[in-house]
Amino acid sequence: MIALALLIAAVAVAAGFWVLNTASKTQTYKRIPGPTGVPFLGNILQLGKQMHIQFCKWSKQYGDIYEVKLGTQRAVVISNPKWVKEIFSTDTAFSGRSRIQCFEMYPDTPFALGIVSSEGEFWETHRRFLLRQLRDFGFGKSYMEQLVLEEVQEVIERFRKTKGKSVSDLKSVFVLAVINSLWTILTSKRFQHDDPKLNTLVENLHKVLFDLVETGGMIMFIPWIGRILPEWSGYNKLRKVVEDNRSFLEEAVKEHKDAFQEHNLRDFIDVYLNEMNKTVDTTSPFYGETAEQHLVAALGDMFGAGTDTTSTTLTWGILYIIKFPGVQSKFQQEIDLVTANSRNVSVNDRSSMPYTSALIEEILRYSSIVPGGVQHRATEDKVFKGYLIQKDTWIFPNLYHIHYNPEIWGDPEAFRPERFLSEDGKVFKKNENLMPFQTGRRQCVGESLARDTVFLFLTNIFRTFTIHFDSNAPKPPVDPMGLILSPQPFSVVMNERS
Ligand code: HEM
Repeated sequence: MIALALLIAAVAVAAGFWVLNTASKTQTYKRIPGPTGVPFLGNILQLGKQMHIQFCKWSKQYGDIYEVKLGTQRAVVISNPKWVKEIFSTDTAFSGRSRIQCFEMYPDTPFALGIVSSEGEFWETHRRFLLRQLRDFGFGKSYMEQLVLEEVQEVIERFRKTKGKSVSDLKSVFVLAVINSLWTILTSKRFQHDDPKLNTLVENLHKVLFDLVETGGMIMFIPWIGRILPEWSGYNKLRKVVEDNRSFLEEAVKEHKDAFQEHNLRDFIDVYLNEMNKTVDTTSPFYGETAEQHLVAALGDMFGAGTDTTSTTLTWGILYIIKFPGVQSKFQQEIDLVTANSRNVSVNDRSSMPYTSALIEEILRYSSIVPGGVQHRATEDKVFKGYLIQKDTWIFPNLYHIHYNPEIWGDPEAFRPERFLSEDGKVFKKNENLMPFQTGRRQCVGESLARDTVFLFLTNIFRTFTIHFDSNAPKPPVDPMGLILSPQPFSVVMNERS
């Protein structure tokens, strides 16, 4: 009896503290508005298959910042571009990332490895190292350009062989080419496009994203569902794909370790292994087994984050250029002007191609393939614009809403590259409200590679071919599909330009 009384008293005291604590947290700060959810599922059922559309509707209703519950996970969505820049640039407290272990290559480590999911000093050290090495090994250099151009050439040869017949799966052609240029930078090896190893890697990547959409992203937001209903939730299938990819990448690292020569560092893996070999400090992020696992996870991140995104952007690019009247001919005129139709377009030409630069910006805006950005995690309670953002809250930048906001763009539904040009059409003008690679401390590390790749592919393909929809095939439906917003399949005919 006494025990029961004590227990009731303890619960009452704890409840009192909770009420006081919550009240003190909410009293002095502005309340973050947002839709009401249901227990356990929060607002998940309201999201539908196209989460970004609901995010836009809510931003019209609730304004610059609102709160939603994804399962039991609290999230804030920010729709004001200036606030997005500010929150992701100024305070390290908003640069965290929450663990979604079902995607991790090593889910049982005490903290997340790789670049995309890691945080704190470990993430900062490895991100800095990766950026430096990628710069030294290629990004923004002629070596990288040469690698990408080899892939462009292979794609052009493939298209040439179609001899004016219908081509329907552009995306898979681009995926192989993009993955191959990344693979060469990271591992100094190149695959043939029909290599079974390369095709398995590509299929696995595709499956991971597809399975996630099939389950409505449920295991991301309610992780315990994966543990208790592993088949139904798609958890088992997802884990198999992640583990197959891990074995593939571990094998590449092992091959590098076996052939390692300190005086001949061939690629990113060699440089990383060299850094590990030099490290004796057991607390260093480059020390021991954890560092090697990190290397595998970081390679996986770059393929995961770089392949589908870049190839989807290229596919949207082809679709928009042939769909919207006048775009293809203006694009080709500018290409012909700089190359005199006698050589490949090179990244050095970009500064004299304002229409092309504007066209690529408009492709990135109009497609907005990562519509809700990639969420960050608040690593501590922190006040932003008078609102308390509690520790562990996810922060989403509402990129799709920003890219389609009529107050910013005037006529966002129109595909109009000219919005990024001066009045006379001669000067390219950046618009700081366009942020397809997000912004701030975690901004995409592959941005310059992605931009160069899209530029080199589109310019050299349209230098070689005039492309039309296949008039015998149905017109492509307009709605995008997938977690990375992708075009639905469409068929084209490519005619070689004389
Ligand atoms: C059109 C192509 C691409 C788009 C639209 C894109 C978009 C993004 C976005 C929105 C983020 C989230 C940034 C944040 O959390 O603040 C991101 C992160 C990242 N991207 Fe990309 N990306 C593209 C291409 C690439 C490529 C080619 C690579 C490979 C080198 C890559 C590697 C990464 C990595 C490793 C991160 C995580 C950065 C971090 O957490 O510190 N991305 N990307």
